[in-house]
Amino acid sequence: MALSREFDVVLFGATGFTGKLVAEYLCQTYGVGQNLKWALAGRSLQKLEAVRTGLVAGTKTDATQVASLALIVVDGTDQDAVNLLAARTAVVCTTVGPYALVGTPLVKACADQGTHYCDLTGEVQWMHRVINQCQTTAEASGAKIVHTCGFDSIPSDLGTFYVQEQMYARHGVYASQVKYRLVKADGGMSGGTVASLMNMMEEVRQDPQVGEVIKDPYALNPLNMPQGPDGPDQVAAIYDSHFRQWTAPFVMAAINTRVVRRTNALLGYRYGQQFRYDEAILTGAGPVGYMKAMAVASGSFLVMLAAALGPLRAVLKSVLPAQGEGPSAETIRNGSFTIDLLALHPTDSQKNLRARLTADRDPGYGATSKMLGEAAVCLATDELPAKSGFLTPASAMGQVLIQRLQDKAGMTFEILD
Ligand SMILES: NC(=O)c1ccc[n+]([C@@H]2O[C@H](COP(=O)([O-])OP(=O)(O)OC[C@H]3O[C@@H](n4cnc5c(N)ncnc54)[C@H](OP(=O)(O)O)[C@@H]3O)[C@@H](O)[C@H]2O)c1
Repeated sequence: MALSREFDVVLFGATGFTGKLVAEYLCQTYGVGQNLKWALAGRSLQKLEAVRTGLVAGTKTDATQVASLALIVVDGTDQDAVNLLAARTAVVCTTVGPYALVGTPLVKACADQGTHYCDLTGEVQWMHRVINQCQTTAEASGAKIVHTCGFDSIPSDLGTFYVQEQMYARHGVYASQVKYRLVKADGGMSGGTVASLMNMMEEVRQDPQVGEVIKDPYALNPLNMPQGPDGPDQVAAIYDSHFRQWTAPFVMAAINTRVVRRTNALLGYRYGQQFRYDEAILTGAGPVGYMKAMAVASGSFLVMLAAALGPLRAVLKSVLPAQGEGPSAETIRNGSFTIDLLALHPTDSQKNLRARLTADRDPGYGATSKMLGEAAVCLATDELPAKSGFLTPASAMGQVLIQRLQDKAGMTFEILD
């Protein structure tokens, strides 16, 4: 049952690099002053006005209509102010980050007031903390709190859900293992993402326990519930005999795998208690594929090492985008991604299924802004399973969101024969 409040969706962080893209997407797709009641929020009125003005040219929407889009000034660290914000809307969709630094008051406010919530965090240590702090309150208030509604981790989580439902529909069982393989991803990185990664590394330096949480393959699983057989994420070049290609470590696996495993637990172990899930990048066959896999593995290791060491972190920061910056409009428009998910039938390899997901914009920003925007509208307006607390994209929205992403957001989900 949709909540009836002054707004359906408030987009918080609309002045940031990704927030602006989400604002454009919502404006283009849902208009202003039409069925969806939405508003922009941020900490600077001047910046919010500039974003709103930019929507006229950016989306070719009527200027008078756009001028009626409400602007709400809120500092994310002011608990009273975010409480008021959460009370006015059915859903807060937030790109205010790094989430571990400024996101907790808003999660608390939404959990308290039964306000649904979605974000783009990939900060496992922070999700682990806020789940522990606010799960009971959110369950009681009816709030659906859904982290990771961007490239991490919607393709992983909904892709696994999709291929598992296809497996069940065709063969009456769920796959015992799903392998996510990144086939292609063209895009760039924003300063906000860099800042979130750097903050995570700083937290690890200050408190080694945070490092233990990040390494735990089941870091996001509900407490006191069974885990599963998965171990650490891939760190080296490995040959994958199912795909007949070499594979390299995928940096987002450290987030996505935790989310998919939490989904399995939240769905009552629908995929099985012994379900296995992993992610890697396909780099091709033969010696060239091997060399590429080695190069990606070594490159990822060196970047993570530099981010972990204080002095090198400063050097890394100076060459990466600053907060507010990100890939060019052209990179976003011309970008795309393709992911294959192989579902292994528990007893008969002839019945294995391979799903393919694609998107028509760069993964981190063009496609991510559409995924987040659709997740927010889905939470605000669609009939969803009657669950509350800290959910995942698949456990909260499953097939309904898959349909939206295909109908409106330029994504495809298909089974390859
Ligand atoms: N999962 C994914 O696939 C994915 C993709 C993209 C981004 N992200 C994540 O999304 C987050 C945003 O990234 P971005 O590149 O868009 O960052 P950004 O450009 O730096 O934007 C951050 C936003 O947060 C706002 N903000 C910061 N502190 C605030 C506070 N105390 N109160 C209110 N607003 C505050 C900023 O407001 P001002 O404009 O006033 O400074 C800005 O609007 C990052 O955590 C990033 O890792 C994830």
